[in-house]
Amino acid sequence: MAKYPKFLMEHFQNPRNVGEISNPDGVGTVGNASCGDIMQLFIKVNEDKITEATFKTFGCGAAIATSSILTERIKGATLEEALKISEETSHEVLSHLPKEKIPCFTLATDALKLAIEEYRCKQVGIHEGGGFDSMKIEKD
Ligand code: FES
Repeated sequence: MAKYPKFLMEHFQNPRNVGEISNPDGVGTVGNASCGDIMQLFIKVNEDKITEATFKTFGCGAAIATSSILTERIKGATLEEALKISEETSHEVLSHLPKEKIPCFTLATDALKLAIEEYRCKQVGIHEGGGFDSMKIEKD
């Protein structure tokens, strides 16, 4: 079994921000193709700042710990800052994870990107009423 540093173990044993936000401003859902696990990350945004961030996952301990760390760090950050924090956290956390666990961490960062994207689409009116939800692909 891989040996994880203390800070990752602590977040795995006491994960923060687990659960769903009711009426979120953005949700990112991603899957890990190598194991089939799923991650959902929820954000609440006020004046460009993330006021709440939570996650749900069927993922492993590495996915739980890294999602807990990321959701803690992005609370209070602007959307741009959150993306930067996500990148910085990637560098920090990935240096402690065994190679095979890297996709487990990128679940959280990818889900965050999608949640922010969804929020931004809603802001410009792409997402609701005529956006991605209602797109239909015509067959020949
Ligand atoms: S093994 Fe599936 S998310 Fe880590």
